[in-house]
Amino acid sequence: MLNLFSFLIFIPLQILLLPLGLVGVVLIAYKQMVVSNRLGSSQTAIEVLNGRWTMHVFDIRLDDAGVKLARALPNTSTAGLWLVLFPLWLKYKISGRYFAYPKLPKEAEETVVDLIIARTIYIDRIIDRLVGDAEQFVVLGAGYDTRAYGALKSRGVSFFEVDQIETQSLKMKWLGKANVAAGHVNFVPVNFAEDTLFDELKSSGYDAAKKTVFLWEGVTLYLSECDVRKMFREIGMCAIPGSSIVADIYADRFVQLGKSKAGKKTLEFTDEGLNFGLPFDTAYESVLNSFIASENLNVGETHFMGGANKKGPFAVVSEFTV
Ligand SMILES: C[S@@+](CC[C@H](N)C(=O)[O-])C[C@H]1O[C@@H](n2cnc3c(N)ncnc32)[C@H](O)[C@@H]1O
Repeated sequence: MLNLFSFLIFIPLQILLLPLGLVGVVLIAYKQMVVSNRLGSSQTAIEVLNGRWTMHVFDIRLDDAGVKLARALPNTSTAGLWLVLFPLWLKYKISGRYFAYPKLPKEAEETVVDLIIARTIYIDRIIDRLVGDAEQFVVLGAGYDTRAYGALKSRGVSFFEVDQIETQSLKMKWLGKANVAAGHVNFVPVNFAEDTLFDELKSSGYDAAKKTVFLWEGVTLYLSECDVRKMFREIGMCAIPGSSIVADIYADRFVQLGKSKAGKKTLEFTDEGLNFGLPFDTAYESVLNSFIASENLNVGETHFMGGANKKGPFAVVSEFTV
């Protein structure tokens, strides 16, 4: 009954507010692409933060720090997000059910629209299991991820965030402005394509004798295969056995989407482009296993997103152990 009522409110409201929704889309796109370009910061990191903000306001996952950061950052617009999502939010609040976006897909039935939400949930689950056994937590290509400022803070690990200097400096500045305490986080500027990760980590207080969880979320697809392999190899050689990497790897067919004319044009604003993917169209489990085995790591928990699709999954979230 409530669901029917929520549709009766939602449909006319969505039609009425469509022009405002379009203003919201333009506002978000302008901030994400043009302002990020001006600041020299990653726009894809904003895409993730917007997804996390959405999860928070739709009661999927609490992220107070993410909400504060999104409100403060100059290269996103929470007003724009509200303009786009308000009818869906109201529908959710009336019925208590998710519809269209955001939604909670069944495992293997995820679509690209569910990417940030599904990926975040699977990764949270893996981290929650691994972190109790670790002493350090390293976020690689951290962007505007806020795991270090939420519930994980009480799990007794030392935090390191690694990213390119432009995005990292902006995050540090705006965490301060948003009143999110970051004194417990070691910020380590690194370019994966140019620097040696462990040299930089060690000079920032990383202890090579301590078991570590490395989170590498939403990054492999922007790197070359050579740089992805270099990172896996370096972690495999330098982190102590029992350490893990939690990462997502994308299917070739997903990477091709980002190489389309529109995808390329959007990402070119911030010099980001899609690059590395694996051929997940057939025998995807063995494709992943042999890639990871070739870097002397072991595959643990895996979530093949879109695995029920005839074309194979569009991505996998997985735990790789050293
Ligand atoms: C899509 S964002 C993901 C951010 C974050 N992991 C999250 O899930 O919220 C990609 C991040 O990878 C970083 N990145 C991309 N290429 C990099 C490189 N060569 N070296 C270091 N960081 C890189 C970007 O600066 C950006 O913060």
